[in-house]
Amino acid sequence: MKKLGLLGMAMITGVVLVACSEGSSGGEGGEETTVGISMPTQSSERWIADGDNMVSYFEDLGYKAELQYAEDVVENQISQIENMITVGVDALVIAAVDGEALTSVLESANAEGIPVISYDRLIMNSEHVDYYATFDNFEVGVLQGQYIIDQLDLENEEGPFNIELFAGSPDDNNAHFFFNGAMSVLQPYLDEGKLVVGSGQTDFNQISILRWDGATAQSRMDNLLSSNYGGGEELDAVLAPADLLSIGVLASLKSVGYTAEDMPIITGQDADVPSVNAIVAGEQAMTVFKDTRVLAEKAVEMTESVLNDEEPEVNDTETYDNNVKVVPSFLETPVVVDVDNYEELLIDSGYYTEDQLN
Ligand code: GAL
Repeated sequence: MKKLGLLGMAMITGVVLVACSEGSSGGEGGEETTVGISMPTQSSERWIADGDNMVSYFEDLGYKAELQYAEDVVENQISQIENMITVGVDALVIAAVDGEALTSVLESANAEGIPVISYDRLIMNSEHVDYYATFDNFEVGVLQGQYIIDQLDLENEEGPFNIELFAGSPDDNNAHFFFNGAMSVLQPYLDEGKLVVGSGQTDFNQISILRWDGATAQSRMDNLLSSNYGGGEELDAVLAPADLLSIGVLASLKSVGYTAEDMPIITGQDADVPSVNAIVAGEQAMTVFKDTRVLAEKAVEMTESVLNDEEPEVNDTETYDNNVKVVPSFLETPVVVDVDNYEELLIDSGYYTEDQLN
């Protein structure tokens, strides 16, 4: 036992060398480290970019990445995550389809010692969410509401102006933050009567669109138009929280004859290509740009820290309560994109090439 032969020494040294060289790629004891990335859907380009960016950043650092999309089906996402746990991923990065449906699968992750980073959307009702990488979601709503205020010049104009309100998926914690952010600036004008919701639908439950489905938004807009604006009443603004919905709203408005010339102010979020094109065409007014390169990089950085038993950098430890704990978060800064700055923010920054847009 005490006397190691030369071969024994060499073997040990060899093992150590392997461990060292692979250790620099984040591997534990020479094994490859794999991160499971579970994304909600490919229906919005942003999630495709989020997934691709994370895979490439993880690979640059020497990790393996396993990326899957649940296509907005809750059960798919749960079984995809279960599979990732079974094959033994070392960490999970998850953007939930339904933020309230992952409690039990996160129990399984925790039982295997797998840390979980919540990506963009907060995973609710679980103590096993280690960190949260996102944008300032309340601010997203503020930017959308303030854009409407500025464009209608509500400070100076008498109005009244007609507006309709949409909110995102009720099972997405972000949807509530976006709506509350927007209403924090719009509510005084509603109270004052300068802004009027023609349909009277101002309650989150009346205006939310399950799974951020554009077709559902389109048919809700069809109904709003036929019930409330059939007699020539003008619609001046539509609060739409994300581009998936903005495009549905836009299609509905076009179908009853609105054109770029008289289109209401329609907000959005994500800078998806169809919406950027609609902005350039003068149809959608704005989108809130959340650079997926920045968010992906932050989530990868957080994951790496956790895997190395270090504390990730956070800048918010108060806002994101998932009903079990306040999840330490890093909030990135969202920005407004409209026709005046899209070239600088989206093309000059390399987010899109000119060819990708119309
Ligand atoms: C939200 C996300 C938005 C938008 C929306 C629809 O959770 O924060 O940026 O992508 O989902 O996919």
